[in-house]
Amino acid sequence: MEFFIDTAEVDKIKELHDMGLVDGVTTNPSLIKKAGRDHEQTIKEISSFVKGPVSVEALSEDAEGMVKEAEEYVKWGHNIVVKIPMTPEGMKAVRKLAKKNIKTNVTLVFSPLQALIAAKAGATYVSPFIGRLDDIGHVGMDIIAQIRDIFDNYGYETKILAASIRHPTHVLDSALIGADVATVPPEILKKLFNHPLTEIGLKKFLEDAKQWKKE
Ligand code: E4P
Repeated sequence: MEFFIDTAEVDKIKELHDMGLVDGVTTNPSLIKKAGRDHEQTIKEISSFVKGPVSVEALSEDAEGMVKEAEEYVKWGHNIVVKIPMTPEGMKAVRKLAKKNIKTNVTLVFSPLQALIAAKAGATYVSPFIGRLDDIGHVGMDIIAQIRDIFDNYGYETKILAASIRHPTHVLDSALIGADVATVPPEILKKLFNHPLTEIGLKKFLEDAKQWKKE
């Protein structure tokens, strides 16, 4: 499973990159706002050191505008993937961009049928938002499983990118189901290292080592 980092904060991406944990990056307008920096400069900087895909969101609401934005974004780096919203105009744009060999990530997906439409349009990635579904009392993970089944039934190559991840269990369940990628906020990715028995075990080993070193 690949890990993308769901942030536009360059220092946080660099820290995880140094640990070898960054297979790609996803951004959105809210994450860019949170980072508080110029959009283009931020994406160019991320793209300069991250080898894998960097998702950048199109802001137009019509297909023609999205395609124009996508053509501009791909000049920002060698690994740009254009995020396109799950709308009828968005799916027109995905079809056109697929013909131009521009990679797309269909965002704001909340049902397996939306994912099917995105795959039929030729999306490179589809992003089901698990946490936001959980927030309204649905079981977000169910749609990851349904999308996996549908894509496997028909051999769609569109990758499932589990998004809106809120805790480590979302990553675990996505991996068990077979999502291709999880895009994970930095603070949650760091939590994946932790286990209290690791800390207790390490402390004990180091204490014991001090004893026999003295002997
Ligand atoms: C994915 O690409 C989105 O940027 C992100 O996962 C949305 O997560 P949120 O629901 O925490 O805003």
